[in-house]
Amino acid sequence: MYNDNPTLPSISKEIDEKQQGKVFYDSPEVKEDGKTFYIESYGCQMNFSDSEIVASILGEAGYSATRDMENSDLILINTCSIRERAEATVRKRLTVFNKVKQRNPGTLVGVLGCMAERLKGKLMDDEKLVDMVVGPDAYRDLPTLLAGAEDGDRGMNVLLSREETYADISPLRLNSNGVTAFVTIMRGCDNMCSFCVVPFTRGRERSRNSFSIVAEATDLYEKGYREVSLLGQNVDSYKWENPETKEVVSFANLLEMVALIHPDLRVRFSTSHPKDITDEVLVTMASHENICKYIHLPVQSGNSRVLKLMNRTYDREWYMERVESIYKHMPDCAISSDMITGFCSETEEEHQETLTMMEFAKYSMSYMFFYSERPGTLAAKKYEDDIPLEIKKRRLAEIIRLQNHIGLEHNKLDVGQTFKVLIEGDSKKSDQDWKGRSTYNKMLIFPKKDGLKPGDYCNVRVDRVTIASLIGEIVD
Ligand code: SAH
Ligand code: SF4
Ligand code: F3S
Repeated sequence: MYNDNPTLPSISKEIDEKQQGKVFYDSPEVKEDGKTFYIESYGCQMNFSDSEIVASILGEAGYSATRDMENSDLILINTCSIRERAEATVRKRLTVFNKVKQRNPGTLVGVLGCMAERLKGKLMDDEKLVDMVVGPDAYRDLPTLLAGAEDGDRGMNVLLSREETYADISPLRLNSNGVTAFVTIMRGCDNMCSFCVVPFTRGRERSRNSFSIVAEATDLYEKGYREVSLLGQNVDSYKWENPETKEVVSFANLLEMVALIHPDLRVRFSTSHPKDITDEVLVTMASHENICKYIHLPVQSGNSRVLKLMNRTYDREWYMERVESIYKHMPDCAISSDMITGFCSETEEEHQETLTMMEFAKYSMSYMFFYSERPGTLAAKKYEDDIPLEIKKRRLAEIIRLQNHIGLEHNKLDVGQTFKVLIEGDSKKSDQDWKGRSTYNKMLIFPKKDGLKPGDYCNVRVDRVTIASLIGEIVD
């Protein structure tokens, strides 16, 4: 779920929708004299999840969410730094907010998230309209910064923390379908992939208290939600020690704890790191029907030399062995990936190895990018960004074409089969149809049926497929 590559040929409308990381939030409870905030989120699911924490903190401070940017008291943008384009998008939005501010001088503007963390005070120097710059670990400070900004003091808090997990904050579910929700289980990242800015913008890895995770998921279930996605940059390294019993909860343990809340609560998770995903996790997945049979396992490159330069700490053989193990434990499991083309010094042959890896792993879908050098990263310091843009783009087009082909073949195998689907809501194209996903994370579209509603499960037989979705009808 990344939002910054609009020039690329889009894989499909559905994936396009996923990559379009912009959300407008609406709140049912705008008090008459209460202040309002408007928030846009960019980047990964964790940023979306953070916006819900921010909304909760602001709610406590008397602010309610609104969709009406023009008349809001506070405009927030939760930003992403992953690629250059992600930051360019944010800069463009800031010029729009600037115009609003010119019309309504009382409106405050705050920049949150990874770009706030990366650029710190420089962001305030560059963007004179910005009243607040707040990093991902400093959201508890928002009410104080806001009070200062109301008095005309521009404020910043970009301190990173080794402990903050916002475990006690109950996120305010924004823009929710009432059926599926994100639950952040860890923050930060301790891997130093050489291309990646995340360790700098999100700080050290820390795992959230398991009981608070289970409590949040239980509460969601009781409120009618039927699917939780456990989020972290590297969920397989989740590790939480109970301070009283000294018992250590691994990711496999946590998955099981959440799966046991209720058989009707589906559990998803993202992202798995190929170096850390264990057979124990695969066994746990296989033994619980409600843990979805879908793993996002970004390969980045199919070539061992490039993987070494990327500091991914696995090689082609290791990755292939992990894929084999997944299919051994769950022959029907769907696997998806992220790929970067044109990383420093990547040769044509090495690029070909990414293509053969895609065929080997049979990805149901992938997020694909060309390399974008990020200031301060290991790659920016050590390697030359020497692959010309046209070559990066051509290689990217090749992997997109192949993924479209593999993805469509993957979907075609589903024709005639029946899948258990969790109804999420109206399909985008028609209010006569519902949409919902199978355990394999594929989107199904099918005509509505009396007696059922979003949040219910139904069996859907697939009649035809596109690259984006499976089209079918409910069967008994
Ligand atoms: N923690 C996840 C990735 C999070 S970032 C993991 O390790 O897999 C999401 C994706 O953005 C990455 O998987 C990578 O494919 C892409 N990405 C990260 N940095 C990038 C860069 N500098 N240029 C292009 N793509 C990048
Ligand atoms: Fe970035 Fe690597 Fe951490 Fe993923 S695992 S967030 S790619 S440093
Ligand atoms: Fe972007 Fe930060 Fe997520 S850089 S991808 S929003 S962790």
